[in-house]
Amino acid sequence: MKRIKLPVHIAFIMDGNGRWAKRRFRPRAFGHRAGVQNMTKICSHAFRLGVRIVTVYALSTENLSRPKEELDELFDLFRSYFSKKKERFLDMDVKINVIGDITVLPEDIQEDIIDVMERTSVNTDGLMNICINYGARQEIVRAVNEAVAFGRFVDEASFHNLLSTKGIPDPDLIIRTGGELRLSNFLLYQAAYSELYFSDKMWPEFSRRDLEKAIENYSARDRRFGNVRGN
Ligand code: FPP
Repeated sequence: MKRIKLPVHIAFIMDGNGRWAKRRFRPRAFGHRAGVQNMTKICSHAFRLGVRIVTVYALSTENLSRPKEELDELFDLFRSYFSKKKERFLDMDVKINVIGDITVLPEDIQEDIIDVMERTSVNTDGLMNICINYGARQEIVRAVNEAVAFGRFVDEASFHNLLSTKGIPDPDLIIRTGGELRLSNFLLYQAAYSELYFSDKMWPEFSRRDLEKAIENYSARDRRFGNVRGN
């Protein structure tokens, strides 16, 4: 890859698993399985390139209204991912942090998630946030209610500390695959100054080279944060 300015934090909306499977006359679960494999491949590549933080949208709060059969298949993927792959992340020295309300998951998966988070908490080579049953509006409303319950006014810094991403810098770059041009309730507060990149590729076919192209595109952008150039 050319000499470029790397984002510190990349967030992914991994859309298109279902359509990718349908085009191959396969069930949606086949697409989600391919999606998990690609998630591992693309996130590993991001860390190898020097990105420090990766956040993935694995299940939105709204996704919970999908048919039970599809949810069970997604839960099975979580089950095998958090029980089998954890050693791999330990090798990579990446800290795994799950964001969202995981109490909707079967108890064995909740336990595995907590175990992975504890085991990887000492890792320092990178941070991978996995959003499960996450919704940005719900996150903001919860944070507001917490501030109210404490009976205090908030400023931007203290409000940030009430969010699930407490202590984590905002995403520099948000990549959405699958051809849709929206954020779908993902990191709405944190995305205030994120650069957005949309790919027509379906998530399972988004390649390492596609990631590099997205980073090169990001690198060429002029981020002014509301200021003027050169300040
Ligand atoms: C959107 O594709 C994708 C999802 C709702 C789930 C994404 C989840 C993964 C890639 C698995 C994450 C797993 C782990 C273990 C963390 P879609 O089904 O909406 O695709 P479509 O828009 O083509 O129908």
